[in-house]
Amino acid sequence: MCDPSDAETTRREILRRLSCGAVAAGGWSGVGPWELFRRVARLLQPKRICALEELPPNNSVAFAYPRAQDACLLLRTEQGELRAYSRTCTHLGCTVGWNAKSHRIECPCHGGAYDADTGEVVEGPPPDPLPRVVVEVRNGDVWAIGLREGGSLR
Ligand code: FES
Repeated sequence: MCDPSDAETTRREILRRLSCGAVAAGGWSGVGPWELFRRVARLLQPKRICALEELPPNNSVAFAYPRAQDACLLLRTEQGELRAYSRTCTHLGCTVGWNAKSHRIECPCHGGAYDADTGEVVEGPPPDPLPRVVVEVRNGDVWAIGLREGGSLR
């Protein structure tokens, strides 16, 4: 159900990177908001989102991760796959939402839309995909455990 195949940042990875001095070498100044978002997420604990049984296929639930002010969206596709993304549109920052009829993540501000399976832009002005949250099922509960690393993050 989860997507452990993608490159991801987990607590184990945090410890490895800290031990290598990567954070100290990279510094904290001069980074953009998404990079800062990603770095903060690396330092936080996994967070329970909901029970898997509370989220039937073709539904979504809002949650916050890694901080209380970081709005995110967990969705379960019609095929039962779990996906989670930041809810902040990469165009001008409006809050995106799941559209169960179109099966897309949509922005109400300027018609932006994202693919539910990948977070890639499928319509409108957003310049980048939605940052993706890595989720995992543990004992029937869905947890946010990190942020996907790589091309989907800015
Ligand atoms: Fe989302 Fe413009 S803010 S499309």
